[in-house]
Amino acid sequence: MATHNLFMLPGDGIGPEVIGQVRRVLDWFKENGIATFNVDEGLVGGCAYDAHGAAISDADMDKAMAADAVLFGAVGGPKWDGVPYEVRPEAGLLRLRKDMGLFANLRPAICYPALADASSLKREIVEGLDILIVRELTGGVYFGEPKQITDIGNGQKRAIDTQVYDTYEIERIVRVACDLARTRNKKVASAEKRNVMKSGVLWNEVATRIGADEYSDLEFEHVLADNCAMQLVRNPKQYDVLVTDNLFGDVLSDIAAMLTGSLGMLPSASLGAPDEKTGVRKALYEPVHGSAPDIAGQGLANPIAMIASFGMCLRYSFNMGDAADMVDQAIANVLAKGLRTTDIMQEGMTQVGTNEMGDAVIEELGALAS
Ligand code: IPM
Ligand code: MG
Repeated sequence: MATHNLFMLPGDGIGPEVIGQVRRVLDWFKENGIATFNVDEGLVGGCAYDAHGAAISDADMDKAMAADAVLFGAVGGPKWDGVPYEVRPEAGLLRLRKDMGLFANLRPAICYPALADASSLKREIVEGLDILIVRELTGGVYFGEPKQITDIGNGQKRAIDTQVYDTYEIERIVRVACDLARTRNKKVASAEKRNVMKSGVLWNEVATRIGADEYSDLEFEHVLADNCAMQLVRNPKQYDVLVTDNLFGDVLSDIAAMLTGSLGMLPSASLGAPDEKTGVRKALYEPVHGSAPDIAGQGLANPIAMIASFGMCLRYSFNMGDAADMVDQAIANVLAKGLRTTDIMQEGMTQVGTNEMGDAVIEELGALAS
């Protein structure tokens, strides 16, 4: 039985609660002789700031770099609204992404049939939706320099963020998207703003070349990012794999999340380049939802996105596709039985808390394994 080294960073708000449910899923895998996990835990976000004045300590960064995979909960909350920008909770997540080189962020948006009515959009628009957003995660305006606010006199300040992309950054993320499209419906849409931004012009140029030279077997489409946002709520099923930059990916993936019923449903995987010797990619898995401070500590949080993120970890880091399929199926079955956390609650369904949702997923895993 393989043993995998997992580093867990539960973070703030509902992070520890949803990570707690993943720990129970890990135990289930161990008890059933499928895999074992060495688990270490660290601090990230506001709790790390409280403990040592940084959004993540160097010691925890080292552990993240050394682990087979990192499981990340959520960061932030009103408690840390006033902390200096450099050490705000989100800085911990951004450092992990940057220092680990996690340039490829995979955000699958799947609308489970049982949840089609939980979306704010009509059932026929979202039912059966299965798209994959591939977001560039270590470049663009998130990290570009200069990034500053300067005093320019006369009571005026000037704020600058820099949107910057080099050819190789666009090439590698487009290739990730295209490789994934080959395992799906062979369709890629690339979103940028070439009509306004130079980075959009280069993005479009590079994506077009990679599509034509290396992936002529795929259907490749280019869409302006604002139009893409509109298309996602008008007719999201026209898309299969959607590749875009860091900022547009942030926004478009929140839209995609709501198509699935709730932000509480969307998992994600952030992957680095394959190691030259071992072929292994550094990886971090996190739900797309945030720390939800309004419901933190009340046992109300939906653990599905976190559990599904662990499913992605099984698939992408541990090469355990069958186990990952089981996790996904267990989630689908629980939803089909009518269990709902408050974020996806609907009339006639059974409302459950975080722990009961975890119980139900584990029970379904048991049923699927027998
Ligand atoms: C996300 C989040 C993060 C981002 C925040 C927490 C920094 O919104 O992962 O989508 O903007 O990337
Ligand atoms: Mg976001």
